[in-house]
Amino acid sequence: MSITYFEDKRVFSLDTAGTTYQMQIGKGDYLVHLYYGERLEGTAESVYTYNANIYCPEPMDLPPGTLSPNMLMLEYPASGTGDYRTPCIDVIFADGSRALDLRYSAHRIYSGKQPIEGMPSAFAGEKDIQVLEITLKDTVKDFYVTLVYSVSEDTDSITRSAYILNKEPEPVVLKSALSCCVDIYGGREYDLVRFMGRALMERELIRTPLTQGKLSSESVQGLSGHSSNPFIVMCGKNTDEKNGDCMGVMLIYSGNFTASAELEPHGNARVTAGIHPYGFSWRLDNGETFCTPEAVISYSSYGFTRLSDNFHRIIREHICRGSYSLKRRPVLLNSWEALIYDFDYDKLMSLADAASDCGIEMLVLDDGWFGKRNADDCSLGDWIPNEKKLGGTLANLAAGVNERGLKFGLWFEPEMISRDSDLYRAHPDWCLQCPGRTPAECRNQLVLDMSRPEVCEYLYNSISAVLSSANIEYVKWDMNRPLTDVYSAKLPPDRQGELYHRYVLGLYGLLDRLTSDFENVLFEGCASGGGRFDAGMLYYFPQIWCSDNSDAVDRLFIQYNTSFGYPMSAVSAHVSPAKSHQTERSMPLETRWITAMTGAFGYELNVTLLSPEERKEILRQTDFYREYADLFLKGRYFRLNDPNKNDVAAWEFISDNGETAFVGAVQRHFSPNNCPAVLRLSGLLSGACYDVSEAGRQILTGVTGDVLMKTGITVKYRREEYPATYFIITKEKSVNNE
Ligand code: DGJ
Repeated sequence: MSITYFEDKRVFSLDTAGTTYQMQIGKGDYLVHLYYGERLEGTAESVYTYNANIYCPEPMDLPPGTLSPNMLMLEYPASGTGDYRTPCIDVIFADGSRALDLRYSAHRIYSGKQPIEGMPSAFAGEKDIQVLEITLKDTVKDFYVTLVYSVSEDTDSITRSAYILNKEPEPVVLKSALSCCVDIYGGREYDLVRFMGRALMERELIRTPLTQGKLSSESVQGLSGHSSNPFIVMCGKNTDEKNGDCMGVMLIYSGNFTASAELEPHGNARVTAGIHPYGFSWRLDNGETFCTPEAVISYSSYGFTRLSDNFHRIIREHICRGSYSLKRRPVLLNSWEALIYDFDYDKLMSLADAASDCGIEMLVLDDGWFGKRNADDCSLGDWIPNEKKLGGTLANLAAGVNERGLKFGLWFEPEMISRDSDLYRAHPDWCLQCPGRTPAECRNQLVLDMSRPEVCEYLYNSISAVLSSANIEYVKWDMNRPLTDVYSAKLPPDRQGELYHRYVLGLYGLLDRLTSDFENVLFEGCASGGGRFDAGMLYYFPQIWCSDNSDAVDRLFIQYNTSFGYPMSAVSAHVSPAKSHQTERSMPLETRWITAMTGAFGYELNVTLLSPEERKEILRQTDFYREYADLFLKGRYFRLNDPNKNDVAAWEFISDNGETAFVGAVQRHFSPNNCPAVLRLSGLLSGACYDVSEAGRQILTGVTGDVLMKTGITVKYRREEYPATYFIITKEKSVNNE
């Protein structure tokens, strides 16, 4: 049993293979957090959870000196009744009062995790997943919060969400409704790791010691954003890749969010995550329920590597859905960095011909195929192929590509509208805009009001018409600006605070319909690169364009940082031109290839301009990729060398059975008169013997996994700009091997 209720101690224990999460119905029926860490036999003692403290308010139903809410480790803290740390919930009742005092009222444990209606959430898959529901009730009002926990034993993670139910006769207004809280004893001993950054340099890892006050990763842009990510990690001061404890919290959500760690004055830390309260309010009429997005929480006492592995598996096996989630993706060529808007039928066919010679399996036509779009200033919303430019119908174009042995994929940016579009001329009120104010443009475009069913219906109809009109086997779903002027012509003034979340719900509803109707189409997410790289999107799309920065050296950093929370099956990466469009840095083809080999690999350059030798080289690359694609898609991923600290960045993919590994290494900086870089491998079978080849040349035979993991392999410095190499490590097939 992964969930146990110890009745004598009133303790709930959520056990995974390696971890335990415990909470207790404590004094006064407060639901207090007891423990989260390595697997625990027995129940934790609540030694530190019942202090009353000087100048801290106490509840009047308990004897004086029993406890102060401000000192409790709480599972779902409410505001207004004496806890001054970040609340999970803040409510205004019809009488204007804003105090909530949540105490335990009931619980149930059952098998079979249910999806959250209208929102992405982790699914059980083949496994039987246990669920715990704990209902808290306000001490005065007919108002309830049901906390839902589910346990994923094999990925050492638990999920959390909260269902908020108003049974008061009058409506209430939620001002904040977060997904989870984990209170941690001794917060001064912790660092917070966040993934911040900016467009073209997304998810930079920032590790900050906790000091009194609050550190957060958050977005108020209407999407998870380039500059923050809904994934944070709390870790010990000495935690590194292989050692030390850490806890990750990830939201399965794509809109405004906050994920924060607050060190309160007495030294404990509160970690919370959920929808950002900025601009949020939600009216709940009598009998209505609001459900928060789901959060995934995981703990590792073996450093970041194990934590990442947990998140990789839960995303790959319990969040990504659809026929492509665990299936090899075709090697694609995207037209964007190859042709931008400058294409016609002949150019696309030449590209397809050259791509086919290179062993590429799909041509993706990016922006510019619809309306009259030849620049980024028009036609978004008019999802009608520009047959003049394409030299005929889309079906004809797709057929031409198919005849050349390639699949065909197409780009859309559905959530947007250009002022210069037929859609805008017909429905100027369909975009987000405040009365009397000209909405701000960004990349010459406005944002559609995705909370309106008729907008989503229009998009559903126009996109499905395009997808049904031709043999389209892949869709790139782009989104190129944050939200402004967040006001809907369809919502009453007192419900405008619901719009940010309703936008996301509208989007999820649309994605649900399209991805189920076109279940064999491979969908890829994108938001000016990696501006919406989150687990919410990964529920609909198994892969996301990781960044618009396809410079291989910059990608070393971006992909390294992204891998802390997200699996390489989700990280879309392409070989782009020799001289990077983004940085103008020149890099060898080999380096661009080695860096781009993830579970979602492709090319993004004009292959017609390459020399015959380069094309031959690409053919060799794509053949190699096909041979090891399973490793890149489903293998465990280890960060071997941090590019921030090492001249040679390196990483490893290894099969689940530990028998085959790929190691990629890029010398991102030349350091003269230096020793070779040593890469200590991970995940091999200690007693087994392995052969090692470097760039196709055998360099070692019969070396034990133990030796490769403890002493490593070496990468020599080369007096060149950004050279790269790769190793294949294969277990020998001798009978004596394990
Ligand atoms: C932004 C994306 O990130 C690019 O890859 C490309 O699709 C452009 N949009 C097209 O407008």
